[in-house]
Amino acid sequence: MTVAVRPGTLADLPAIADLQAACFSEVWGPEFLGRLLAQPGAFSLVAVDLGAPAGFLVARAVAGEAEILSLGVRQESRRQGLGSGLIRMAAIRAAAMGALQICLEVAVENDAARALYGGLGFREVGSRPAYYQGTRGVRGDGLILKRVLSESMGRGREVD
Ligand SMILES: CC(C)(COP(=O)(O)OP(=O)(O)OC[C@H]1O[C@@H](n2cnc3c(N)ncnc32)[C@H](O)[C@@H]1OP(=O)(O)O)[C@@H](O)C(=O)NCCC(=O)NCCS
Repeated sequence: MTVAVRPGTLADLPAIADLQAACFSEVWGPEFLGRLLAQPGAFSLVAVDLGAPAGFLVARAVAGEAEILSLGVRQESRRQGLGSGLIRMAAIRAAAMGALQICLEVAVENDAARALYGGLGFREVGSRPAYYQGTRGVRGDGLILKRVLSESMGRGREVD
């Protein structure tokens, strides 16, 4: 399936903030997102569904290592490949920026995200106990996932 993913621009900040707020209980807001994206190596991607932003990814690539800071797809557009498309494009972009690997953190109980990342070759390399603000005041554990980026990605080839 072909998924439309494009680089995010300043004009996308409100839409990215809306998507982030719809996907997570901890809301970042456009100002915080703007400050994050102004940092060296930070970038955003937007996935489009039915002509409108339906998914976003925020990442940072610094000193040979990239990190996915946030990723979300609105409920109505899930299971159509948008999340995978965003990660594939982030991997290409990060490799082009000199990153050799890409990492992220995911809540242990986030089955959907873990299945998504596992299917794209991310492997568990560590954990952060009580890292997430979980439900009913109970903090959830986080997992650190990582995958190596191949040199070919920087030249625009898709993730295998
Ligand atoms: C996780 C998330 C980004 C996935 O986005 P998506 O666009 O639905 O993902 P895709 O359509 O690319 O899914 C690719 C594969 O991931 C796996 N997957 C995705 N959602 C899944 C689910 N709910 N249950 C089980 N597997 C799932 C499947 O293997 C899927 O392939 P398939 O649809 O052919 O079975 C989306 O569910 C989301 O925004 N969740 C809330 C925010 C969040 O948890 N972000 C990640 C934080 S680390």
